[in-house]
Order: sequence, then C-alpha cells, then structure tokens
Amino acid sequence: MLLLTGGAGYIGSHTAVELLDRGHRVVVLDNLVNSSVEAVRRVEKITGQQVPLVVGDCTDREVVERVFAEHDIEAVVHFAGLKAVGESVSQPLRYYRNNLDALLTLAEAMDAAGVRDLVFSSSATVYGDPETVPIAEPSALRVTNPYGATKLFGERILEDLTAASPDWRITLLRYFNPVGAHPSGLIGEDPNDIPNNLFPYISKVAAGRLPELNVFGDDYDTPDGTGVRDYLHVVDLARGHVAALDHLGDQEGLEVFNLGTGTGTSVLEAVRHFEEACGHPIPYRVGPRRDGDIATCFADPGKANRQLGWRAEHTVAQACADAWRWQSANPDGYA
Ligand code: NAD
Ligand code: UD1
Repeated sequence: MLLLTGGAGYIGSHTAVELLDRGHRVVVLDNLVNSSVEAVRRVEKITGQQVPLVVGDCTDREVVERVFAEHDIEAVVHFAGLKAVGESVSQPLRYYRNNLDALLTLAEAMDAAGVRDLVFSSSATVYGDPETVPIAEPSALRVTNPYGATKLFGERILEDLTAASPDWRITLLRYFNPVGAHPSGLIGEDPNDIPNNLFPYISKVAAGRLPELNVFGDDYDTPDGTGVRDYLHVVDLARGHVAALDHLGDQEGLEVFNLGTGTGTSVLEAVRHFEEACGHPIPYRVGPRRDGDIATCFADPGKANRQLGWRAEHTVAQACADAWRWQSANPDGYA
C-alpha cells in the first residue's frame, strides 16, 4: 500500500487515480486545510475502488505513527504542504512550520516503521530566475520566497538523510506548472479564494465568475512580451509519480527529476487556447508586472524521459479543454 500525504489535494487526487488504475492500493493522509473529502470520494467514483482517508496532520507525530501502524505501507508520496507564494511572504512562520515540520515528522515516522522509499513534491521554484532555459536538474538553485525556501530546505534535508542512511531511496520531483483536470470532469483544481495562478484565474474569467484577466506585464523579453511557462497537464504529472515509484526499486539513494513538457507557452497563447476550449473570448487587460515574476521558465525533461521512461503527452489545448470541462461541471468546485 502507498501512503499519499496531501492526497486529497489537486495533484494528489489525480495521482491517486493513476496509481489505482494501475493496481496500486493507496491510503490518504490529509488535514483538508486546502481540500475536501469530496475529492477523495470522486477518486473512488472514477476508479471504482475504495480509498481510506485519514483526516489528520502530518505534523502530528501520533497520527502519522498510527497510519504506519494500521496500514502496510511500502512507500510514501509526500504532497502535503502549503503552496501559495504570496501567503508564504506574509506568513513565513506558518509556512516553515507546516512544510518542514510535516516533512521531518513524516521522515522520522517512516524511519521508525522501516519504510524508506519516498517521493517528494518539489517545485521548479527552486531554480529561481534561471540563467538559461531549458532548465536541467544541475542548474543553480536559488529561491526568492519562503515557500520556495521550504522546498529547497526539504530537498536538502532529504539529501542529508540519504547521505547518512544509504537504505533510503528518495526521489525529488521538481514540477513545472501543473494545469488542467481529469478528463472525466470529476476532479480538478479547486482554489479556496481568488486564484493566484494563471489557469485557475482564466477558468474563473471564462465562467464569468471574474470580470477579466490581468496580464502581469507585456514588456518581458519573450516573443509576445508576456511571461512564458511550462504548463504540464496534471494527468501527465500524476503519471510521472507512477513512473518515479516504479523506478524507486532500482534506485540507489537520491535522484532528482524535472517534470515538465520542455515547451514554453506565453500568457497570451494560454488565453487563446482557453478561448478555443470554452468557445468564447476571454476579456483581459494588460497591467504591470507582478513582483518576483520571471520572464521565462521551462524544463529540460530529458532526464525523466530517459531514466523514468516518462514523457508529457497532453498538449496545453487538451489541458484547457479538461480544465473547462471541470469548471463547467463544478462551478463551485467541490462545495
Ligand atoms: P494542494 O493544496 O491542492 O494539495 C496539498 C494538500 O496537502 C492539500 O490537500 C492540503 O489539505 C494538504 N496539507 C497541507 N498541509 C498539511 C499537513 N500539515 N498535514 C496534512 N495535510 C496537509 O496543492 P497541490 O497543487 O496538489 O500541490 C501538492 C504538492 O506539490 C505541494 O507540496 C506543492 O507545494 C507542490 N507543488 C505544487 C505546484 C502547483 O503549482 N500546484 C507546483 C510545484 C510543486
Ligand atoms: C507560480 C508560483 C511558483 C510555483 C508555480 C508552479 C508565484 C509567484 N509563483 O509561478 O512558486 O512553483 O506557480 O505552479 O505564485 N499571470 C498573469 N495573470 C494572472 C496570473 C498569472 O498574467 O492573474 C502570469 C504570470 O505573470 C506568469 C504566468 O501567468 O507569467 C504564470 O503564472 P502562475 O500560474 O502564477 O505561475 P508561475 O508564475 O510560474
């Protein structure tokens, strides 16, 4: 059985589906701070399988130890964490406490239970403003906000752990920009508040729930002046976890992989793709740059392609179609 911490969340729920579809059994540990029980019920609906959900906090040692005592866990995917960059700047202690305490408590409980196979959700944010693109794994690491720092420190903790204890096998997955939703329209991204990220924001504008998109700057050194990112369909990202788990058995120590498509898409290109998906124009206005934003960021996914046998298969257009299906069928998310 696999333990998915944060498995009720956006990426965790999609990963649960892909794992269950391939015959794995999963248990979810989530405190539901940014998700709902309904997401797990929908995973059960899609797959026709039961998913035990433990509602609890990864920073709570007793809870985490009980999960290992009550389930026969072989490996863990650690998604649980807070992820809003702006919030991390205004609430740094909450972010450091939650994200680092969760990782440390989990790793200690794993060690005590003799479970030493772990996949960790990291982020392309650890590359900061990259010197060159596409970005390969050995690129310099630098972070610009507390959220990014929790990912960088998390990676470092796990590197030190594998250096000290060679029986650990750990995979750090650096995600680029996950977007889209499951093609069933039953699960997708359900931000609590006004979205910070581009795709959920465009979805809300397309649905008429927000008046227009603010394009954060069109004077970047990019083909159309707007920011360029590597948008990765969340189902491809989920399958990257399946590939990483399959690979863990042959792995020694720690490995790091970028999960991205290798292709950049600008904000205006993303708007055009979404307009095709929803069938009507998306109003937008160009405004000033957002603090801390960079011009261009996209992955060199070559290492994951070669060593994990994984490759992103969906286009941005498909991600838009799936995001729109999810948005249209669930205008209030899981509520
Ligand atoms: P999400 O918020 O949808 O999922 C995270 C889940 O963790 C939520 O269900 C939340 O309730 C849970 N959680 C948070 N703190 C917890 C704790 N202390 N104990 C138990 N559960 C806890 O986010 P997501 O987009 O699915 O992201 C999953 C992981 O991937 C996160 O670690 C995130 O930082 C990382 N990541 C996300 C992105 C992205 O753009 N979505 C990009 C790179 C990395
Ligand atoms: C964000 C996070 C980053 C995380 C990444 C992965 C911030 C500052 N950074 O980065 O830590 O790793 O997601 O998902 O939140 N844009 C608009 N209008 C909007 C929203 C976004 O024009 O309303 C533009 C941005 O300027 C950027 C692009 O769209 O050029 C993508 O933005 P976003 O979805 O927030 O992702 P990142 O900036 O890559």
